[in-house]
Amino acid sequence: MTTPTPQIYPANAESLDLAAKTLQKGQLVAFPTETVYGLGADATNDEAIARIYEAKGRPQFNPIIVHVAQAEILKDYVEWTDQAEKLADHFWPGPLTLVLPRLQNSPISLLASAGLDTIAVRCPAHPVARDLISQANCPVAAPSANASGTLSPTAARHVADSLGSAAPLIIDGGPSEVGLESTVLSLSHKVPTILRHGAVTIEMLTPLLGTVHQSLHDDTAPKSPGMLLSHYAPNIPVRLNALTGTDKEAFLTFGDDNDVQGGAMRINLSANGDLIEAAANLFSMMRECDQPSLEGIAVMPIPDEGLGLAINDRLSRAAIAKK
Ligand code: TXA
Ligand code: MG
Repeated sequence: MTTPTPQIYPANAESLDLAAKTLQKGQLVAFPTETVYGLGADATNDEAIARIYEAKGRPQFNPIIVHVAQAEILKDYVEWTDQAEKLADHFWPGPLTLVLPRLQNSPISLLASAGLDTIAVRCPAHPVARDLISQANCPVAAPSANASGTLSPTAARHVADSLGSAAPLIIDGGPSEVGLESTVLSLSHKVPTILRHGAVTIEMLTPLLGTVHQSLHDDTAPKSPGMLLSHYAPNIPVRLNALTGTDKEAFLTFGDDNDVQGGAMRINLSANGDLIEAAANLFSMMRECDQPSLEGIAVMPIPDEGLGLAINDRLSRAAIAKK
């Protein structure tokens, strides 16, 4: 098997068509936005989202911003409020990300929001980003297109240098105008709260919102589980590295589970032992296991390598949350 080398395509009708089809197939596309370059995937496709985490090589699942071309569609994904409408009218398309409560039947991947009950959404201004999202005809989840722990890319070349073959398709839309990641504003706190500073400043937000708080989390700093944004944790205890399940437990297995015993119910994260598939299934399967009639969730060991690191990080937080 040959490893694909990153290909940088100038933005034109042909490359956008290819990129849109690539997104629809559940593969990744790096694309320009006015803030920084993003590494995009279909936000409704769990496996595509798992590929983003794999490509960035991050040992944690961090929630990812969902990009749309038009704000209207967001009413299907999140609790869209008057406040959100006002901000969208004023600042979109542009470098402002809004964090809003997820709708119960939102089609957005649970993995994209890392199991949170909120979703971060943004309508980018860059014409190439807008064309790509419109043509792909799906919401596009995209973190900055750099390897974990490195600087955000503001040119196509930076993406290729940072991600190498993990980003085989890069659309070049020139240097990013803003050059700094978007402002992240939570509207799901009681008072609107800035979670990350960016080009839309607190001075620009207060005239529209009144009081605005700041609660900055440094997303590069190691987080203790207690400090983490309120991540979804199952209501019943989680037991890790389980080789058998009791008859009162849900048993979340991985790989070949023909010879393992027990479990009131059993769900396999990936019968083939595929970590991308396991990551894609993790949050929805944890929810399935989280039943009040059961006493806990037993989880088989997951290899601590590649995406397994992020899966194990998430599982150990869930295990600590309810002991
Ligand atoms: O300008 C940008 O925002 C770029 C371009 C590509 O749009 N994207 C970007 O994504 O910087 P990323 O993943 O590198 O940063 C996303 C930030 C992180 O700090 C993450 O914690 C926060 O947004 N975030 C995402 N979803 C969230 C949520 N549901 N609640 C709170 N914070 C969230
Ligand atoms: Mg980033």
